[in-house]
Amino acid sequence: MLGFFKKKNAESLPGLLTTKAAQKGIKPTFYSTKVLEVRRETADCVSVALEIPHPEMFSFVPGQYLTLKTQIQGAEVRRSYSLCSSPLSGELRVAIKQVEQGVFSTWANTELKEGDTLEVMPPNGQFALEIDSADRQTYVGFAAGSGITPVMSILKTLLERAPEAKFILFYGNRKTHSIIFKSELEDLKDQYMGRLEVHHVLSREDQGNDLLYGRIDEARAAKLAAHIPGVKDAAGHFLCGPEDMIHGVTAALTAAGVAKSAIHFELFTAATPAAAAPKTGATSARAESYVTVILDGEETHFHQGPKDFVLDAALDAGADVPYACKGAVCCTCRAKVLEGEVEMAMNYSLTDQEVEEGYVLTCQTMPRSERVRISYDD
Ligand code: FES
Repeated sequence: MLGFFKKKNAESLPGLLTTKAAQKGIKPTFYSTKVLEVRRETADCVSVALEIPHPEMFSFVPGQYLTLKTQIQGAEVRRSYSLCSSPLSGELRVAIKQVEQGVFSTWANTELKEGDTLEVMPPNGQFALEIDSADRQTYVGFAAGSGITPVMSILKTLLERAPEAKFILFYGNRKTHSIIFKSELEDLKDQYMGRLEVHHVLSREDQGNDLLYGRIDEARAAKLAAHIPGVKDAAGHFLCGPEDMIHGVTAALTAAGVAKSAIHFELFTAATPAAAAPKTGATSARAESYVTVILDGEETHFHQGPKDFVLDAALDAGADVPYACKGAVCCTCRAKVLEGEVEMAMNYSLTDQEVEEGYVLTCQTMPRSERVRISYDD
């Protein structure tokens, strides 16, 4: 079994900065924390600063997210929100945009206040940039709406930590007043003169430039890549927004010659999780599988049907397995298949390599063999 948490790499990193390697072994369990500040960013978005429950476990790589948990009207609600602060600042701050019928986001925007207590899991996520202080390359961000949150953390950290690196940001919103972090971005442009370019793309406000009037879609991304120097040749492209933007920008960048390995993306919404409908196949007729899940070295055994997801079945069986979105986006429910065959309905967050190594999103995983053994500890 892995240790509860590991020490950071030999190089001592400033503030809350860490590496993904140093995060290995940190368990996705909840810690109680206090809300230090709720700051209104726009009419429908607040940023929330949290007390740091444990600096070693809550250090993060810019671009990562926190999973928060609370009780709202008697029901437990969990959501993942990206960190918008730079780890160099030593601040743990997420941004929460109110979404229509969003239980947690509405509560956070209307009721959450300084001094309240929240449950929080250590930072997690693969959408992140590990920054070398000697890096002299250019990076590009495409963000829409609250998709700016992880990109903000990445660009702030890059500009501060790598004095010769540059960042080009394309940020889509409806109108000027809906731009989250507008004044902070302007301040950063002044502070890091010539190293940060910000292009606001507005869909309902004509800025007098056709290139920046509309939505960030494939055609616009293709034009931006063709006309803005540095975009095609950047060392990394970070895309965060709705699915159609991610697909459109990815298609435009790859058509412009950008390697797929340089394109990183994070969805902030996923399609409604598909009902667990198993695809056809000989094994789909199996009535039940005998499933074992391992968490913190403890085994939980249960029988489940082929249409049920392992995460739900494990929760029903009393295992306190980690999850947040249940929609294939956040990766909190990641675990490794040690034995047996499974099938995933959706995957928006595991890399191809992780899938090859046997990792699955248990919120999307259905058993396809008589026995299945899955570990959250690997
Ligand atoms: S709970 Fe978010 S991906 Fe499974």
